[in-house]
Amino acid sequence: MRIGLLTGGGDCPGLNAVIRAIVRKGIDRYGHTIVGFRDGWRGPLENAYEELTIESTRGILPRGGTILGSSRTNPLKEADGAARIAENIRTLHLDGLIAIGGEDTLGVAARLHGDGMAVMGVPKTIDNDIGATDMTFGFDTAVQVATDAIDRLHTTAESHHRILVVEVMGRHAGWIALHAGLAGGADVILIPERPFDIDEACRLLRRRHARGRYFSIVVVAEGAVSRDGGLERHEGDTDDFGHARLGGVGQRLEREIEERTGFETRTTVLGHIQRGGTPTAFDRVLATRLGIAAIDAATERRWGMMPALRSMRIELAPLADAVAQLRTVPVEDYEVAEAFFG
Ligand code: F6P
Repeated sequence: MRIGLLTGGGDCPGLNAVIRAIVRKGIDRYGHTIVGFRDGWRGPLENAYEELTIESTRGILPRGGTILGSSRTNPLKEADGAARIAENIRTLHLDGLIAIGGEDTLGVAARLHGDGMAVMGVPKTIDNDIGATDMTFGFDTAVQVATDAIDRLHTTAESHHRILVVEVMGRHAGWIALHAGLAGGADVILIPERPFDIDEACRLLRRRHARGRYFSIVVVAEGAVSRDGGLERHEGDTDDFGHARLGGVGQRLEREIEERTGFETRTTVLGHIQRGGTPTAFDRVLATRLGIAAIDAATERRWGMMPALRSMRIELAPLADAVAQLRTVPVEDYEVAEAFFG
């Protein structure tokens, strides 16, 4: 068989482990040819590709990013986008295409499969917000990076008797904020799923200080919003899929908390540090398992599906289920963290 492969959307530690697994088993065990498209959906749209070999994918397991490159190109924005992809896939004599990506990349894959194309997906995102899977690779690495940062911020916060606000990624879901906040012992965690009340956050910080703890850590997801809408994050340019570039909630909180409580406050925005660099062992193993399941499924022509982690096992789930709804933080998970606030 001849199988195409692409990585789309924001990059994520573990992408290279998926590519390596697909190439290794695809060529060694099944005798397939693997064609790697460049830069997400731009590759099949503009016929930018290279053949991947076992040699060209050696040594990439611990490397962050993606050797294929990525982009937020939305081929469905162009009237003839789907037709051009179908034509390029035909010209390259591909039997099918594996798209590794998050909500947007998988959304395009689901649409193209709906139009009759042989496409399957592999879920990825540091945000951990894809439906139909318990977890995505990249998330564990992002949480580890954010936890290390919180640990470091703790000591300087304590020395200077300050409040440190840590802004982490998480556009629609607060998984990174919640898990890094829990692991790092944050005193307040603010996530997009729970519009926050700035008065309540300040009350918790004052209470903590009244109990003799003269420093605090506030972890906020970039997508968090205040209940009254008065502390809106900054929304910048939008990408091809209509998502605004978020930012600024940490700095707004810094000003607001300092003014309301009188406690000296600083902000650290972790940004793309959470997405770069070497994946954790957990992410390498999860990504490898998903890659192997993807090439097995492609060999069986299970198009329209994606391998997913469910109760620690890898199972196939319909792509349509994965993109139907984002997986957000449930109330009971947030309540675990709330027990440690203030
Ligand atoms: O989707 C993953 C993610 O890291 C989000 O958490 C974040 O909002 C977004 O990507 C940032 O995207 P970009 O790198 O395109 O600015």
